[in-house]
Amino acid sequence: MSMFVPTHRRRILLDTDPGGDDAIALLWLLSLVKQGLADLVAVTTVAGNVPAHQTFNNASQLLHLAGYSQIPVGRANVDAPTPAHQATYIHGADGLGNLTATLPPATHVLATAPMAADLIIDCLSAAPGEVTIVAIGPLTNLAAAEHQSPGILKLAQEIVIMGGVFSCPGNITAQAEFNLWFDPAAAQVVFDRRRDGVVILPLDVTQHVRFKPEMAQQVAAAAPTHPLAQFLLNLVDFMVQTALTYRATAGIPSFLVHDATTLAYLFYPETLGFQRAWVQVETQGEWTSGETLLDQRAIAKPPPNAWVARQVDAEGLLMRLVADLSQVC
Ligand code: BDR
Ligand code: CA
Repeated sequence: MSMFVPTHRRRILLDTDPGGDDAIALLWLLSLVKQGLADLVAVTTVAGNVPAHQTFNNASQLLHLAGYSQIPVGRANVDAPTPAHQATYIHGADGLGNLTATLPPATHVLATAPMAADLIIDCLSAAPGEVTIVAIGPLTNLAAAEHQSPGILKLAQEIVIMGGVFSCPGNITAQAEFNLWFDPAAAQVVFDRRRDGVVILPLDVTQHVRFKPEMAQQVAAAAPTHPLAQFLLNLVDFMVQTALTYRATAGIPSFLVHDATTLAYLFYPETLGFQRAWVQVETQGEWTSGETLLDQRAIAKPPPNAWVARQVDAEGLLMRLVADLSQVC
């Protein structure tokens, strides 16, 4: 049987703060690169789940593990002030389930790496309209690129964001989702400056996408001796434990692969349903900073600035994720 294989490869810049679910998203993307369906032009790292120097090293170690060390990695400003609260209680002290000591070393050097904002500007200017930004951490780097080079975000083909929450409780405060809470002003810059081509995968849908230990076992069975297989099994073990401790999965042994939903949108859009909306971010509130607002009133509104995911076929999405991950080893 011959299968129709599309000839157009998505060119992607991944902005990330690895993070257990960031790691799953990166590995999913690399499996698509391996299958000839995507090009990963750069990885830019940002402070979020763990500090900026750690997210940089994590990204480099993950690329090394998967055999993609040649992909450039950009760094965030390691001296920039960030909220005191990070997400080590979910992702481990090193962001990757305390497993970085078991991974091959970072091959990218922080001291000489390009700044993330510069790399974003370079990649978008080199191929206007052709590079999609997948942003799965706080939006600090995207806003910095826009400040440095006003209008640059308009050169992205699309900006696909994991972040925000609209109709369910937040995961960092009662009202806010972690990525937008971490740097709400940056998120507002992105929504203001790029009035179309923004796609949001909020907590409302990602809270249903539960990756289970048996899925990791299925992937590992495809190449049991590959170091990536062991890493995946250990990472999932760790993430499932913290998810249960912090009641992220309604007591179901699993963890939420929030960030992977961005790739489902790009490569398996049939697994998601979207609403066009005008989205704003609360940047001031004492209790509500980082809250995302979507106006559902039956009155005329300003022109919409985003597509917001509202439904997900979690089972179908996870089935596709497992099938692709099985190919990365
Ligand atoms: C988001 O916050 C981070 O902890 C995860 O990596 C994900 O990007 C979910 O709210
Ligand atoms: Ca993340």
